[in-house]
Amino acid sequence: MSVIRSRIKGCGSYLPERVIDNAEMSTIVDTTDEWIVSRSGITRRHVAAEGELTSDLATKAAEDALAHAGLTADDVDLIVVATATPDETFPATATTVQLKLGMTRGFAFDVQAVCSGFVFALTTADNFIKAGQAKTALVIGAETFSRILDWEDRTTCVLFGDGAGAVVLQAEQGEGTSDDHGVLASKLHSDGRHHDLLYVDGGPSSTQTTGFLRMEGNKVFKHAVKNLSSVVKETLDIVDIKEEMIDWIVPHQANKRILDGTAKKLGIDPEKVIVTVDQHANTSAASVPLALKTAVDDGRIKSGDLLLMEAMGGGFTWGACLVRY
Ligand code: UT7
Repeated sequence: MSVIRSRIKGCGSYLPERVIDNAEMSTIVDTTDEWIVSRSGITRRHVAAEGELTSDLATKAAEDALAHAGLTADDVDLIVVATATPDETFPATATTVQLKLGMTRGFAFDVQAVCSGFVFALTTADNFIKAGQAKTALVIGAETFSRILDWEDRTTCVLFGDGAGAVVLQAEQGEGTSDDHGVLASKLHSDGRHHDLLYVDGGPSSTQTTGFLRMEGNKVFKHAVKNLSSVVKETLDIVDIKEEMIDWIVPHQANKRILDGTAKKLGIDPEKVIVTVDQHANTSAASVPLALKTAVDDGRIKSGDLLLMEAMGGGFTWGACLVRY
């Protein structure tokens, strides 16, 4: 049966120049390299320069992805930006990216699912493509979490970083089997009862301030391994794929222990998990496409590989996408 598939034609990334390593972090708050590495696996994080906005990071990642795909902004009819740190309350950062790319056609909007944002945005764009409402889409995860961190709260500020990643999706005819290239299945969830475990204590309607990230990390941790392994199973079941058929897990990078715990629960070889949390920390919606780009560039991910992207974030939101690269 002939079906429309959303195929990844290119991927890109951008990381701000400035790096804060754990040694420098220990001059900012009462922490140590040993604590941060043993609890999270993080050794360093990138931080945007003053005046460098989420849309700047997103635009650079998008340009990189377009170059990788051999396409230009003129080819794009949809931009979806996943971000929890938009330039402004409105308009959508995606429309600023559209402007910065020099695009005057198509449509652009933001998706807000915090750390799950890229998986939600990829699924959204895939549905527009499958519905025939877009042919070529830029899906971007971009964040400047350094701007919403309480730099006096050691329990959160050591864990996050800034960055952006992007993919170009393009409509392609498939056979309707799991041998097709492109997005093969996805599954999304949310549960608003867990608001208080991970949120930002400000916003236009509540406080008229931006607010700071607040997290009960150890409680989030427990939900993460459980939710991620179950949503991976649900996603694989949609197309009747077994865990051992996955070539690479490209997960949201919150904590090395969550990555290890989820792989163990799924019975997947930890060598098949792409890990960048050590270098980038948690970049929220940017972490999955940043990890993807890293493993494509170093030659691990090749055309035809079966990728499982998964993420969980504030809300709670969580989800997974199965993609043949
Ligand atoms: O991306 C969205 C989803 N987010 C996540 O998935 C994050 C999930 N959570 C985690 O990654 C982990 O829970 C953390 C890395 C946040 C924390 O690890 P933990 O093993 O759960 O530690 P904890 O929160 O239970 O804290 C243990 C101790 C506490 O001291 P006491 O009360 O035992 O004396 C903290 O005060 O570590 C202390 N602590 C620190 N010590 C040095 C907390 N932060 C720091 C720090 N440096 N930066």
